[in-house]
Amino acid sequence: MSTFQEGLAPMAQPGDPAPDTGCAVYIETYGCQMNVYDSQAIEGLLKQDGFAIVQAERDADVVLLNTCSVRDLAEHKIISRVGEIRNSRRLAGAPEAIIGICGCMAERVGPGLRKGNGRVDLVVGVDNYDKLAPQLTKLTSNRPARERIHTGHRTDAHYVAPPQLYPTNNSHLVTIHKGCDYKCTYCIVPMTRGPQSEKDPDTILAEIRTIVAAGGREVTLLGQNVTAYNWQAGMDFAALLEKVVEVDGLDRIRFLTGHPHDMHPHLMDTIGRLDKVCPWLHLPIQSGSDRVLKRMKRLYKSQSYLDMVDYARRAIPDVTFSSDFIVGFPGETEADFQATLEVIKAVKYDQIFSFKYSERPGVPAAKLADDVSVDEKKRRLAELMAVHDKVWNTEAVQRVGETWTAVVEDAARRPAGAWRLRTANNRKVVVQQGDLAVGNSVTVRISGFTNTTFHGELVG
Ligand code: SAH
Ligand code: SF4
Ligand code: F3S
Repeated sequence: MSTFQEGLAPMAQPGDPAPDTGCAVYIETYGCQMNVYDSQAIEGLLKQDGFAIVQAERDADVVLLNTCSVRDLAEHKIISRVGEIRNSRRLAGAPEAIIGICGCMAERVGPGLRKGNGRVDLVVGVDNYDKLAPQLTKLTSNRPARERIHTGHRTDAHYVAPPQLYPTNNSHLVTIHKGCDYKCTYCIVPMTRGPQSEKDPDTILAEIRTIVAAGGREVTLLGQNVTAYNWQAGMDFAALLEKVVEVDGLDRIRFLTGHPHDMHPHLMDTIGRLDKVCPWLHLPIQSGSDRVLKRMKRLYKSQSYLDMVDYARRAIPDVTFSSDFIVGFPGETEADFQATLEVIKAVKYDQIFSFKYSERPGVPAAKLADDVSVDEKKRRLAELMAVHDKVWNTEAVQRVGETWTAVVEDAARRPAGAWRLRTANNRKVVVQQGDLAVGNSVTVRISGFTNTTFHGELVG
């Protein structure tokens, strides 16, 4: 634990080594990739101020939980995790940890997290991570930290994660904007992340150049709606891609998440034309029923989505699709649900993420009666996944025998000696032979598949 002295410290000069606070911080990340990126940014900020980052909760003086509010269950998990950390310390006779809540739950629940049995020590929301180090310094030195809650949105707070945090060639995350201006009626994100605010393209490009200088060759541009990027109403996402592809030494660009409403022909043509931009579109449709889409305020119809998919197939060679689905949205009938299954059959997604509707406090859909029973939601979810599996198996079997180029991402956990590869269009392949180098491209022949992972053999 830190033994920081009271009194004035001499002002730090540029280039000075970071002060060592003697305080170890463990960060546990929940939710989406934006939280993964933010945790990396938090690590960078804390290290800069002399905190050590540790990889195990038991070694830490401070535990930060970077949280998600998107569904009820995600928030319950955090509350029980706080109790679990406190209990395990007590049982081990270890000193209490300082527990801080960051991320979306900090914004949504705020002061409520400082009350009751599961009380936490610090609450810092998504636009206030620069306050973490000073507050932790006070808390770890037993100085009174009067301000323990830092929430609220600031358009100027765009964090940049340092690139040395990514030792391998897995995609390096780069958040390009934060917040969301869409108002999907089920969604808590506009509340937790605030209005959309773009990161300056010069900052984005500088960040990518630093990643490349550190050895990175691939980036994933991140945002709740990257396709709505529009810097100073002048540079849209297509124009940003044109700039990013100019970065020397960068091989591949992925992006997450696109909104179907923003997938204009010009953007799809641009993606198709730029070789470095990977042909993989994660475009959540949520439902295949126009009635439900309207009630969700998704701004497109089922047919316009299917037309967009057709256009993308023509404009972007080898393009693959993935999507998110919500089942059991208030008022969803069996016919609405069947319309969703039809979309799955028509698009033949490579991958889907499907969720039971979860009512979030204060969002517009919370005013609608949550009238699809829990059992019915479960049934629809299971059926949706079964339909997707069937469609996918029919598609995947046709890929056996094909020859693909894929990038070596990592050693596979199982079987021993195997490698995980990924194609530009986001297909996962495991190969068993060879002494491969992470980051290199190899040619593989596909020999089979298990679920969404293909098995392959190296060619040449
Ligand atoms: N910005 C992205 C995704 C945001 S959240 C988009 O517009 O698609 C990730 C996914 O969580 C959503 O696509 C949706 O499928 C799911 N989700 C969001 N709110 C939910 C809720 N209240 N209940 C169930 N699933 C939800
Ligand atoms: Fe939520 Fe809709 Fe914004 Fe996605 S586009 S983050 S689902 S409000
Ligand atoms: Fe969850 Fe917040 Fe991401 S609610 S999905 S962590 S933006």
